[in-house]
Amino acid sequence: MPALLIDGKAEAKRVCEQVAQGVKAFAEQHGNAPGLGVILVGSDAASDVYVRNKVRETQSVGMHSFEYRLPTQTSESELLTLIESLNADNKIHGILVQLPLPPGIDVNRVIESIKPEKDVDGFTITNTGRLAAGLNGLVPCTPAGVMILLKQVHSELAGLNAVVVGASNIVGKPMARLLLSEGCTVTIAHKKTVDLKSLCKQADILVVATGVAQLIKGDWIKPGATIIDVGISRVDQDDGSTRLVGDVHFESAWEYAGAITPVPGGVGPMTIACLLANTLIAAERLASSSVQV
Ligand code: GUN
Repeated sequence: MPALLIDGKAEAKRVCEQVAQGVKAFAEQHGNAPGLGVILVGSDAASDVYVRNKVRETQSVGMHSFEYRLPTQTSESELLTLIESLNADNKIHGILVQLPLPPGIDVNRVIESIKPEKDVDGFTITNTGRLAAGLNGLVPCTPAGVMILLKQVHSELAGLNAVVVGASNIVGKPMARLLLSEGCTVTIAHKKTVDLKSLCKQADILVVATGVAQLIKGDWIKPGATIIDVGISRVDQDDGSTRLVGDVHFESAWEYAGAITPVPGGVGPMTIACLLANTLIAAERLASSSVQV
C-alpha cells in the first residue's frame, strides 16, 4: 500500500487560521495585535528568503511585523543593543534572530540576551531547560510543528520507538524531548552513530534533521513507519536544473513508509505556523503577567 502523504501545507494553514482568530481576540481585548520582531544580520540568501516568508506570514495572520535588516559588519554590541530595545518594547511580544549569524558574533550571547518570555524560537537556556524539565515555556518551532504532524497520524504515541537523526540544539535535541514527553522510547542518532541503517530500521517514527541530502534510503525504513523529513537541500539534476530534496530519499522511502512528509510542503510550512503560534502564546502570557500585581 502506498504511504500516506502528510500534508504540512494544509496543516499549517489550519494552525495559521487558529492563530489568526486568536490574534483578533487579542487585539479586541488589548487594543493592539501581537508584534514579532525579526532580525537578520548580513546577506545570506537562504536566510533572506526565510525572513521574507516569516514577515509575510506574520502579517497574513494580522500580527504586526517589525523587520530589522542589519549589515554584515554589524558588531555584536550593536546587535545586543537592538535586542535590549526590543526586550523593553511593549509592542513587541516575540523576538527572532535569524541564524546563522556572521562570524565574529557570539551566537550564544545573542540568544541569551533575548528575554525568555519573548524568545519565540525557544532557544534560550531558560526555554531549553523548561522543555527538558517538562515545564511550560516556548518550544522550538520545527519540533513543535513535527509533533502536530505526528499527532495527525498517530492517536497515541506512547510506547512507539522513535529515532531522531541529528542532534542539533534547534531540532534534534528538543525533538527528542518532545517525543519523550509523549511516552516514546527515543534514540538520538548523530554523526558518530555506528550502523545508522540498523537503528533506523527499528524506528516506528523516524525524524531526520541532518542537512545531508537523501541520506536515508527506502531499505533503511521499517515497513509502515512514519517518516518526518526536516531537511531541505537544493541538488543539481542531470539536465542542468536544480530541485529541492530532503534528508530522506523520497522515491524509495515512499515504498516502505506508512506515512511520510514531502519536501517541500511537509515540515517547512509548520515551522512558520508554530512561530506565529508561539508569538501569540508569548503575547497572551506577557499581557496576563502585566495585569497581575
Ligand atoms: N535558521 C534556520 N532555522 C532557524 C530557526 O528555526 N530559527 C532561527 N532563528 N534561525 C534559523
